[in-house]
Amino acid sequence: MAKATDFRYNTGDNKVPWAAVGENYNAADLMEVISFLMQGEGPEYEQAINAVWEQVKKLDAVSTPPGKLTTGKHVEAAEEACNEYLGTTTSTFVTNCTSGFEIAYKYAGLKEGDEVIVPAITFVATMAYPLAVGDKLVFADVDARTLNMDPADVARKITPKTKMIVPVHIGGYPVDMEPIMKLAKEHDILVLEDAAHAFGAVYKGKKIGTIGDFAAFSFHEVKNITSFGEGGIATTTIPGFGNDM
Ligand SMILES: Cc1ncc(COP(=O)(O)O)c(C=O)c1O
Repeated sequence: MAKATDFRYNTGDNKVPWAAVGENYNAADLMEVISFLMQGEGPEYEQAINAVWEQVKKLDAVSTPPGKLTTGKHVEAAEEACNEYLGTTTSTFVTNCTSGFEIAYKYAGLKEGDEVIVPAITFVATMAYPLAVGDKLVFADVDARTLNMDPADVARKITPKTKMIVPVHIGGYPVDMEPIMKLAKEHDILVLEDAAHAFGAVYKGKKIGTIGDFAAFSFHEVKNITSFGEGGIATTTIPGFGNDM
C-alpha cells in the first residue's frame, strides 16, 4: 500500500493511500483530454492524433509531473502574484467566485432573517449564500448611467437587520465605493465586493477588491481573466485574517 505523502491525508493509524485521494496526471490522461477536446474521425485524424501521442510520450519521459492534481505550486504562485498585483496580503485561490463569497458570508455569521443589500442588476451567484440561509435580499436601485449600485438608495435601504452590503462591479465598471464604505462604517456593516467581472479595475487609484472587507474575482472562462474553466480568487483587507486557521 502506498504511503500517504501529504499531511492533510495522513489520518494517523488509518493511513490513506495516496492513490485513494488523487494521482498525478500521466501521458495517457493527457491524451484522453486531448482526444476529448479535439474529436474527429478518419485516417487523417488518426494519423494526427497518433503523432501527438508519440510526442506526448516523449514529453512524459522528460517532464516532472505535478505533486498532486490540486493546489500545487502553481496555485501558490498565482496567489502570490495576485497579492503582489492587488497589494493584498491574503489572496486565496477558490473553486469559483461564488465559493469566495461564501467565505465572506460565513465570516459575517449570516443567519435566517438577516438582511443583505445587493444591487438590482447582478447574477444570482451574488446572493446564493444569503438565499440558502434564509436571509432577506434587499435590492438597491442601480444608477441608470453606470448600472451599478446607487449609494443613495443603499442609504435608504439600511435597517438594524442589515449585515452586509454587496456592491457588484458590473461589467468591470467600479461601483462608487467611497459613500458605500462610509455608510458601512457608520452602521458597522461588512462590505463584500462582487468583483467577478473586475480583475484589474481601479477606483480612485485603488484596485477593485481591496476596498471592501472582502472581495472575490471570477476566473470562469467568459470573464476578463480565466483559468480556462472555473476558478476564482478571494481577497480580504481584514488584517491577520486566516492566521488562526
Ligand atoms: C456578477 C457575478 N457575480 C458572481 C459570479 C459568479 O462567478 P463564478 O461562476 O466564478 O462563481 C458571476 C458569474 O457569472 C457574476 O456574473
